[in-house]
Order: sequence, then C-alpha cells, then structure tokens
Amino acid sequence: MERLPGFRDFYPEPLPPTKDELWSMDARNHIFDTWRAVARRYGFREYDGPPLEPLELYTNKSGDEIVAQLFNFEDKGKRAVAMRPEMTPTLARMAAAQERAYKKPFKWFSIPQLFRYEKQQKGRKREHFQLNCDIIGENDRAADAELVALLIDTLRALGLTSADFVVRLSSRNAWTEFFASRCPDATKAYDFFQVVDKLERNRAEDSAALLAPLGFKLEEVQAFITGGQPNAELQLILDQLTARGLREFVRIDYGVIRGLAYYTGPVFEAFDIKGEFRAICGGGRYDQLIKQVSGGKVDLPALGFGMGDVVLFELLKSRGLLPAFTAGLAAYVLIEDETLRAESLRVVQQLREAALPTEFSLTPAKGDKQFKRALELNAAHTVRLERQPDGAVVARVKHLATRTENVVAPGEVAVRLGAKP
Ligand code: HAM
Repeated sequence: MERLPGFRDFYPEPLPPTKDELWSMDARNHIFDTWRAVARRYGFREYDGPPLEPLELYTNKSGDEIVAQLFNFEDKGKRAVAMRPEMTPTLARMAAAQERAYKKPFKWFSIPQLFRYEKQQKGRKREHFQLNCDIIGENDRAADAELVALLIDTLRALGLTSADFVVRLSSRNAWTEFFASRCPDATKAYDFFQVVDKLERNRAEDSAALLAPLGFKLEEVQAFITGGQPNAELQLILDQLTARGLREFVRIDYGVIRGLAYYTGPVFEAFDIKGEFRAICGGGRYDQLIKQVSGGKVDLPALGFGMGDVVLFELLKSRGLLPAFTAGLAAYVLIEDETLRAESLRVVQQLREAALPTEFSLTPAKGDKQFKRALELNAAHTVRLERQPDGAVVARVKHLATRTENVVAPGEVAVRLGAKP
C-alpha cells in the first residue's frame, strides 16, 4: 500500500537518500523548535484552529487559485467542508469572534499542517506545514517592519545569511494606483494582479496576451517593476529595518504582488538568493479580511506571513545547515550479568526519573552487541552494574567520547551523569 502522492512520511531520523525524498521528524522538529523560539522572542503567542473548516470560509475570500486546490467534500451531516489550505481565514474568523478579549495589537503564531491539491512539482506538496505569524489590530507600518524583522531573524536563526536569502518587499497599494491610473474598472484589478504574480513563471507572450484585454502592455508593466522606488509606506518599513541593522536582507521589488486575493498594503516574499527554489515565505497586509469573514461585524487591520517547511528544508539541506541528529541518549545501561537485571532496571528508572534519556536491551543479549548498540545510538555514557567478590554491587560509568571510567554506587549514577542531587 503506497502513501498518497504529495504526502510525506516522517521517519524519526534522516535515512540514507533513496530515489524517494525522505523526511524526518528530527529535521521537522529542528525547524519547528527554531520557529517557536524566534516567534516567542518577538512576543508572539501560539494558537491553533481546526484542520477542517466550512468550505465557505475559503470561497470568494482567498481567490480562485487556492479554491481550485481545495481538498473539499460533504461531511455526513451534509455540510460542505474543506481541509484548511491556509491559516489566514481561520485566524480572521477566530480574531473576529474573540477580539474583545484581547488588547490590540495582538501578535499570534501557529504551525498548522495545510492541504492543497497542487500539481506535483519541486517545492510543492499536497500537504505542508507553515509557520504563520500575524499581527491583528495595528495600522501603523511599524507592525509591517516588525513582521519582516521576525521573518529575517527566523531564517537567520536557522543559520541562513544575507548571502543565502532576500526578502522582496512590494506594495499592493502601489500596484492598485498603477492599475487605477490606466484602467477605471476596479473589478478587473484581481485578474491583473494574477498576471503580475505569475510574470516570472509564465512565458512573456502568454503574459502579454493576458494583459492586452485588461488594457495593459507587458512593457509598461515591466517598466513599473524595474523602475520601482519605495513608496511612502515602504520607506517607513525600510527605515525601521535599517535601525534594526536588517536593511541588507531586504530589496524593494515590485515583481512581488502575492497571488492571494485579500492583500491590501505592503506585501513581501522571501527567496533563496540564487533563485533556485520557490518562495520560502510570503505575506503582507490584509486589512479587509476580518471584516469580510465577520460579515461586517468586526473591522480590524491585520498583517502576517506564512513560511513553509518544504522549501525551507530543501534550502537548509542544500546549504549543509541541517545539524547531525542523534537520539540524544545520556546513557545506555548494559546488562551483561542477567542476575543483575532487576538492579539494572532500578538504575534505568532512576536515570529516567532524573530526566536523563536512557536506553537498555529489553531482552538478554551479548555484551559486545549491547555495547555496539550504545555506540550506534550515540549514547554519551554506558552504565554497567557489576557484583564485587564481597557481594556488593557497583556501577561502572564510562564516558564514551573519552573512554574514562568511574566506579560509583548504583544509587549515585544519576548524580554522576549530571542530575541534580
Ligand atoms: P502562501 O504564499 O500561499 O501564503 O504560502 C506561504 C508559503 O507556504 C509559501 O511561500 C511556500 O513556502 C509555502 N507553501 C505554500 N503552498 C505550498 C505547497 N503546496 N507545498 C509546499 N509549500 C507550500 C499563505 O498561505 C498566506 N496565508 C500567508 C499569510 C499569513 N499571509 C498573511 N498571514
């Protein structure tokens, strides 16, 4: 039985590469732990929502592209439902429902698993995890700068530098003005933004053919991108990033516009500097979404970003930035004398109660086999109980890196291995 295409199995540790890309919980936890640590450093609080939502939450709000990719079905109660393809509509719904309970602005993060029925391609799966960081209830562009800084520091905390990635900063407002100056029909703006969003991926003649009925020439759109100077809102963000010493990570680039329908102000995407991979992260302001989702009841400005694990993992791997993962064992208890199994189990228990990760052989095994296993698991120490000629039992504690050995009473092993007495 095969797993579904576009879905991943996460084995505990990275396995030797096969034709199939193998993912591991070790690598996933490394990424998630860093995401959490940096988001908390910036004062963000963690939330989550349901993985299954009413279909209606996505139709008309996120745009046609994501709706076409939904995993949706009718549940047994005849409700039209969808697996969440992104977190932002859920967050907008949650924020609107409880906004009175929270002082504005509130800064929240989440690491949801998301589902999109995508075409099979590099950097795209049918399920992925995404760090979502959002700020609700703040109009000032200081919040946009705060988010971009968080995005940069998250990638830096994973070991990436300005030689590895760049944040391309743009403005939907600038594009809306450009559009309005040439086309009076605002209902066509979304179609226009879609073409701009795909300029880099589509052939020039295809883009030109899509722009023509909207009244635009490809050359004038390209000229707007290449001539792009920061508008007032982007300049405010740049100034604050300069003050934080993070200016070198950001480039004004009107080639970014974002595919999702709900963005309203500054928008941005992070890419690897060589442009080998798809976007690592994307986000921006969406000041109207909470109002839309709440049927006009709650009106709050909002902004945020989503950083996917798939592209990030590929980039970290290509730069050799995934650490060597180990089982992290403090001790492997060798049971060479089966008459000492009960005493050995007592030591195992004491070590584990002292929060020291400990392993041992569940069944009798040759001493050298047990020792080999301790080495395979990269245990820091082995512990072996031994009966002395006078009948007393002692513990031999060996530090495997230096091969130094100490003999202590069995009850003192935990303290010897660093547990607090
Ligand atoms: P998005 O651009 O659709 O934005 O996704 C954000 C990131 O998630 C992408 O840059 C990419 O790294 C990753 N990603 C998206 N789809 C896939 C996929 N099929 N497979 C692998 N990775 C993927 C959003 O989802 C917005 N809701 C982000 C946001 C939060 N905006 C404001 N707050």
